[in-house]
Order: sequence, then C-alpha cells, then structure tokens
Amino acid sequence: MFISKLSQLGWMARELTRGQFASVTRKAHLQGPYSRHFQPLVSYSFSDCKKHCTFSTTAADNTQEEKNEQKEKISVTFVDKDGEEKHIKVPIGMSMLEAAHENDIELEGACEGSLACSTCHVIVMDMEYYNKLEDPTDEENDMLDLAFGLTETSRLGCQVIAKPELDGIRLALPAATRNFAVDGYVAKPH
Ligand code: FES
Repeated sequence: MFISKLSQLGWMARELTRGQFASVTRKAHLQGPYSRHFQPLVSYSFSDCKKHCTFSTTAADNTQEEKNEQKEKISVTFVDKDGEEKHIKVPIGMSMLEAAHENDIELEGACEGSLACSTCHVIVMDMEYYNKLEDPTDEENDMLDLAFGLTETSRLGCQVIAKPELDGIRLALPAATRNFAVDGYVAKPH
C-alpha cells in the first residue's frame, strides 16, 4: 500500500516536470488524503492561460501601435485671420500645405509646392519654432519676397515639413495672399 502511494507520488512528480501542473492538481484533488499537498495554485488550465496570455499580448501590441502612431504625428495649430484656432495632427514628413488641405484649412498653395508662388505663406508664431526650421532656400526666399504681409518669421507652408521638434508649432494664416489680395478672394483648399 505504502509503495503504491509512493509510486503515485512519483507519477505526479513526473507530470509536474512535464509542465502539466494544472492537470496534476486536478487529479490530486480527486485522490483523497494527498489532495492537501497539491492544492491548485491557479484557477484555470494551461490552455485557458494561453488564450488569456495571447489576448493580453494582442492588447499590449495594439497599445504600442497606438503610441507609435501618436509619436509619428505632431500637433500643429493653424490660426486664421480672425484668430480662430484649428488643432490638427500632422504625420512626420508631411508638409504644412498638405496638412492644411487634408484638414480643410484655407491655405491655397496655387503651384502645389513647386516654389512658383507665395500663396502658401504662413507665419510661424513663435520664434523658438521658427529657429527649429531648416533655413529657407534661395528659391523660397525669392517667393517669400512676393508674399503679402511678409514678417520675419514668414515661411512657405509647402516647405515646412513636419518633424518631431516641431510638435506644438503654431502657424498664422495671413489675412490675404499676394495673388488674391486685390479682389478680396478667399482662397479655398484644393
Ligand atoms: Fe506655391 Fe508653396 S504652394 S510655393
């Protein structure tokens, strides 16, 4: 009898080494006086745990993806001529002209970013952010010279490209652009 119980214990030890703890504890529970030595430590089986763990990993992945997505976009505020603000998220690498068009912001961009107009003129509202921009090329400076209401922090929206350091930048839209200032036309995004 004693030897038989010992052999049962040996079997249980082998099962434990195979990682089937949950099944052993269930069996032990059914085997009378030895059950007190094998109280289950978990309330669900390995397969249940696997399902649960898979779910947790997927949720964690989703959260990480969301974080990455947020990291890859910066916050930009456009302020129109009436002082109304529009806050948008702009993907890294996108120009402020494209971002404005995607968000129904009235920034014209007649030449669609080919540096042949000044209708995408924006004014960087904080010098701190202006200094974080790449220096304007000669072509951009030539076009800026034609811009209506030029300021010392003026840039062409098609040449301002979103990058992490620009997170929080505020851009004012001039009251008018050179092309349409005369007849009072209000530019519509494409
Ligand atoms: Fe013409 Fe920017 S859209 S220069």
